[in-house]
Amino acid sequence: MARVLNFFNRRGNQRVPGALDVRPGQRVLEIGFGGGAALRSTLHTLQGNGQLCAVDLSPDMAVLAARRFRTEVEDRTLLVASADVAALPLESEVFDRAYALHSHMYWPSLLTGIREVHRVLRPGGRVLLGMDVVAGVRLIQWFGRGYQPAGPDRLAEVFQEAGFTDVSPFRLTAGVVAVLGTRHWAGGRGQVPPVEFSSPAEGRRG
Ligand SMILES: C[S@@+](CC[C@H](N)C(=O)[O-])C[C@H]1O[C@@H](n2cnc3c(N)ncnc32)[C@H](O)[C@@H]1O
Repeated sequence: MARVLNFFNRRGNQRVPGALDVRPGQRVLEIGFGGGAALRSTLHTLQGNGQLCAVDLSPDMAVLAARRFRTEVEDRTLLVASADVAALPLESEVFDRAYALHSHMYWPSLLTGIREVHRVLRPGGRVLLGMDVVAGVRLIQWFGRGYQPAGPDRLAEVFQEAGFTDVSPFRLTAGVVAVLGTRHWAGGRGQVPPVEFSSPAEGRRG
């Protein structure tokens, strides 16, 4: 199942680090990594310098990812955990980048989830949420008839409601629309505030 998911979602996931301007040395959060389609490209972009913390509601996905990326988990460039975006077991203002692909449509409350992402991003940090607006939405509606997942316009509104600025929807691939946002920061250029990363959620790691 994870392999099928990765195959269909691979193109959008591979483009995330570039679209989000992920750079070596950063702390990055992925929410709802599923089969891990974006994990490899993000780790590759970090070049062993920085840290990717990946959470998914499903403990099974966390176990699979921990097995697949054993080396990166052992050297702590990758932290994997089972956690709900609605209550991230993470300290505030620790990440430079955060993203979720094809995941926010399943969150019980979009606003609660996006507020949590806002909380854990440092000022000046960026978020990207993306979804397949063609095949993905059709699939969800097939499972839950009548369900209308928030489209990119609604997503952009919720970003603003949660406090993000510079909110902009764009096409990540032909079928995937993503929305970018920045956590507001009033500081001047070059004055990046210090970032401390502590106590990531590893409790239920496999
Ligand atoms: C369709 S999969 C997408 C996986 C991957 N991001 C991709 O693009 O292939 C959605 C994932 O979001 C996770 N998810 C759903 N609700 C969640 C929540 N409230 N908190 C964290 N993860 C969640 C699911 O467990 C699932 O692995």
